[in-house]
Amino acid sequence: MCGIFGCLCEGAPKVLLEGLKRLEYRGYDSVGIALINGDELFVEKNKGKIDEFILGLDEARLKGEIGVGHTRWATHGAPSKENAHPHLDCSKRIAVVHNGVLENFLQIKEELLKKGHIFSSRTDSEVIPHLVEEYLNEGLTLKEALVKSMERVKGSAAIAMISTVEPERIYCYRRESPLIVGISERGVFCASDIPAIMPYTRRVMVVPDDRLVVLERGSIQIEDLRGVMYKTEFTEVTWDLELAEKGGYPHFMIKEIFEQPRAIRDTLKIPTIFLDKAARLLTGRIYLTGSGTSYHACLSTSYTASDLVGIEMRPMISSEFADALLSLESSTVIAVSQSGETADTLNAVKHAKSKGAKILGITNTLGSSITTLSDAYICTQSGPEIGVAATKTFLTQLVALDLLLLRLGLISGRLSESAHRSITHELEALPGMVEQILRRADKIRDLALKYSKKENAFFLGRGANVATALEGALKLKEISYIHAEGYPAGESKHGPISLIEPNFLCVFIAPRDRTRERIIGNIMEMKARGAEVFSVITEGDDELKEISDEYFEVPRANEILYPIICTVPLQLLAYYAATFRGFDPDRPRNLAKSVTVL
Ligand code: F6R
Repeated sequence: MCGIFGCLCEGAPKVLLEGLKRLEYRGYDSVGIALINGDELFVEKNKGKIDEFILGLDEARLKGEIGVGHTRWATHGAPSKENAHPHLDCSKRIAVVHNGVLENFLQIKEELLKKGHIFSSRTDSEVIPHLVEEYLNEGLTLKEALVKSMERVKGSAAIAMISTVEPERIYCYRRESPLIVGISERGVFCASDIPAIMPYTRRVMVVPDDRLVVLERGSIQIEDLRGVMYKTEFTEVTWDLELAEKGGYPHFMIKEIFEQPRAIRDTLKIPTIFLDKAARLLTGRIYLTGSGTSYHACLSTSYTASDLVGIEMRPMISSEFADALLSLESSTVIAVSQSGETADTLNAVKHAKSKGAKILGITNTLGSSITTLSDAYICTQSGPEIGVAATKTFLTQLVALDLLLLRLGLISGRLSESAHRSITHELEALPGMVEQILRRADKIRDLALKYSKKENAFFLGRGANVATALEGALKLKEISYIHAEGYPAGESKHGPISLIEPNFLCVFIAPRDRTRERIIGNIMEMKARGAEVFSVITEGDDELKEISDEYFEVPRANEILYPIICTVPLQLLAYYAATFRGFDPDRPRNLAKSVTVL
């Protein structure tokens, strides 16, 4: 995933760099900008993070009122100065930034090489400025050349292009990868997401798929590749930019963990009309699919669905979906994805659609690809999640899915009005419960200091809390680099137990639910082999306090809520362990916020 930004406004160099800083979460292995000043195209790019990049810039050369920029997360070609965007044509008149993956770039590159074009990077993206140049040389206008280029390239692309040929315009195009535009008295802007342009305008529009955009001083025009104009409808962003900034916290991840009560409260307000539309879609066999943390939400929900409404839903890891040769005709697939752009999940969705399934998207990103591919979708109300590790979006996915199950139960007659009312009431208590846990974050911080010295950990649970265990382990390993495995507690004796030796850390998800007695048996097994046991338990559970070396109490709740509240101490554990080990939890190595490659 990469971030693109473009602006036509006073003070463009500063706006460009600020915008790129807000997009850095989308990729942080290289960065670059291009500005037009008079008839000169100024380009500066490099490997590394944006702060280092800014330090190396010669301020005196940063001039002009029109520019584009890019933050990169490498897919084609290693992170390097040459592979950083913007990419230029041979005559250095055209600068292009691109987010996406071009499938047929090798073929196009070969053709262009034969025609004498000289490439300076190993990226797929560099074919775009050369292709535009080629068509310009054939006598087309810049716009015509871009249209023809976009018709030639296959794959995903959000691009922004400036050129000394038409120094008063930014041209953009969107296919699959996200792109938004905005306008204000200050200027016109384009970017990969809304927070990047929010300091300059709140009037924004999500660019529809397969559209060309022309940004000029005071106007934004959107059209399709045949030149048919598209009505521009700007909406006013009502949420606060504060939501997308650190707000005094040292990292986005901890800020986002502490934002969870608010995120849940907002998600609980999803209008019934949307939930009912989504619930009515759920007919035939029902599959849940997602990747990583979103898959854990699917797994957890599969247990809740059987429990709450007696409906079987099969959870599937998205990257395995097509290979599982599922019967998809007349089925429904619930696709869960925070970003709505994860390639594995989109692939599963496309496969399911091609076999006749209906799609219900659950996403946090309005305008994302998943919303366009789905028959209906529900947007979780987390607000932007910047930290690479998913936290608040996981909790709100679970809440949204619980709300959906409740409506499904009611519509299908599987849940009585009074059961519906009473569980809804319990869900409404969730933000308060999470607040109560967060007030005791210090206890987890103290434990994390001790556990941050471990090299291995097991996370064990039963029932829906297998998903909680998997999520706890994923969080810990991805940001603190402690080797952690999540496992069904009952399954751990069939092999993994042989790893246990004195002081091996075992984290048990052990709330007061139907699994409690058997979990106690598993704790005893591990303790007998010298494991150090940390249990997440229901408040006042003295027996579990007694048998655990350490424990953390969560409020007493309905069983279906435990996967939500038991996750919070595990998120905190991962966060603090990472910081004690000296790692930046917002930028885990080798990971990007959204994984857009298969
Ligand atoms: C883990 C994490 C990833 C994502 C996964 C799917 O903390 O963030 O495992 O959950 O890459 O991403 P989305 O939900 O955007 O499809």
